[in-house]
Amino acid sequence: MKQGTMIHAAILGAFCLGFGIMLALIEQVTAEDIKARAMEDRQASLSQVLPAEILDNNPVTDTVVMKNDEGKEITVFRARKGGEVTGMAYEIFGSGYAGEMKLMLGVDAAGNVLGVRVLAHKETPGLGDKIETKKGDWILKFTGLSLGNPPVDKWKVKKDGGQFDQFSGATITPRGVVGAIRKGLEFFAVHKAEMMGGAQ
Ligand SMILES: Cc1cc2nc3c(=O)[nH]c(=O)nc-3n(C[C@H](O)[C@H](O)[C@H](O)COP(=O)(O)O)c2cc1C
Repeated sequence: MKQGTMIHAAILGAFCLGFGIMLALIEQVTAEDIKARAMEDRQASLSQVLPAEILDNNPVTDTVVMKNDEGKEITVFRARKGGEVTGMAYEIFGSGYAGEMKLMLGVDAAGNVLGVRVLAHKETPGLGDKIETKKGDWILKFTGLSLGNPPVDKWKVKKDGGQFDQFSGATITPRGVVGAIRKGLEFFAVHKAEMMGGAQ
């Protein structure tokens, strides 16, 4: 091989190597950034469904992983005060007009709803998105309720004979959310011991 060609090959090789290293570094920084952002989001949604006054721990690091009734893995974040579990938060899922809706449900140790927030949905803006706190206070009305309050058969939208308002022209979304919360509370009722126990 001519000397000139070898120099060109070496330059090209060095360039490729440098570029490769740069890409790997960017990927690493981005992955860490995404992880940190996801952690912040999680912390933010947890702080909305687990009131500060019921805990002196960090629920993000006090978890137990379980399978919900559909076989999906869910993480249960425990709130503790003086070591005692005072409440917990976990993801619940409902089917909406446009697909799955993901929510975070907070309950106290007796199974009363501490708060519910939508984490992700694909519902129609102006119709189904009133489940977001940015768009309305509908989702806040579950706080303080439990499986017995109202009775289980009233955990439905009004159109289905229950006690919860649907939206005008949009019943599917609220029906899905009410069903998800009811199922989430039933899951707690059945699995309370496992959710509260487990490694800290
Ligand atoms: C383009 C389009 C988007 C819609 N988006 C929603 C939605 O996000 N959530 C919802 O519950 N219904 C949505 N609907 C309405 C549903 O198709 C359905 O009619 C409604 O939920 C039933 O409510 P009703 O019994 O009060 O009419 C949408 C309808 C159309 C045509």
